[in-house]
Amino acid sequence: MSGITEVIAGGGIVVSPSIIAADLSTAGQLVSRMDPDIISLIHLDVMDGHFVPNLTFGPGYIQNLSAHTQIPLDAHLMIEPPENSISSYLELDVWGVTIHYEATRFPARLLTKIRDAGKHAGLAVNPATPIESIFDLIFYADKVLIMSVDPGFYGQSFMKESLKRIEKLAAFAVKEGHKDLLIQIDGGINKDNIKDAVSSGARLIVTGGAVFKEGNINDNVAALRAAAIKAKP
Ligand code: DX5
Ligand code: ZN
Repeated sequence: MSGITEVIAGGGIVVSPSIIAADLSTAGQLVSRMDPDIISLIHLDVMDGHFVPNLTFGPGYIQNLSAHTQIPLDAHLMIEPPENSISSYLELDVWGVTIHYEATRFPARLLTKIRDAGKHAGLAVNPATPIESIFDLIFYADKVLIMSVDPGFYGQSFMKESLKRIEKLAAFAVKEGHKDLLIQIDGGINKDNIKDAVSSGARLIVTGGAVFKEGNINDNVAALRAAAIKAKP
């Protein structure tokens, strides 16, 4: 398989492992063993202990990690407010940067800033936020990340209500002519629900606990991808 841009342009499904579910002290070795033919995007959960009740890593860690892999990195910023430190993330060699709708009063300005820095601009939305709240912002975003758990921890149970939210958003984006908008789902994805996520309209699938628990990361992602591709409409 080729790089993330080609996969997206070809209408493919991307299963993106979140290293939060791995041992962060040895993540450099872990990402260096990831097979770019199987894994085309690595998900990085940045948590600040304020927007969410957990703390992970920041730009310095991501910079060090990026030296260990050629696979594009996708930073999911669970930080509030993101405008205080977004510049540090935009300087990094990352493919995408996602901010939370709930964490800022200025989402359109920040998304524009992400795009202007040459990055893929993502807008994340929590389960408790009415999906219609972000409808007027979709043209500022390259992707919308639908949280299918309350953010903060890996290994939580999938909220099935998120599927209807994806369907509503996908229908709205098509109606408004934003045909390139990507929908990403994040939280509680496993082999039993990935088909439903893809059928509802998600093309970028984040997965943590399901791929790091046991076995080999490349095999686990490949198995999830196979299950996802079967469901592709
Ligand atoms: C939750 C994070 C997710 C999550 C993924 O706040 O954004 O990326 O850790 O892990 P699982 O798939 O285990 O929910
Ligand atoms: Zn995430």
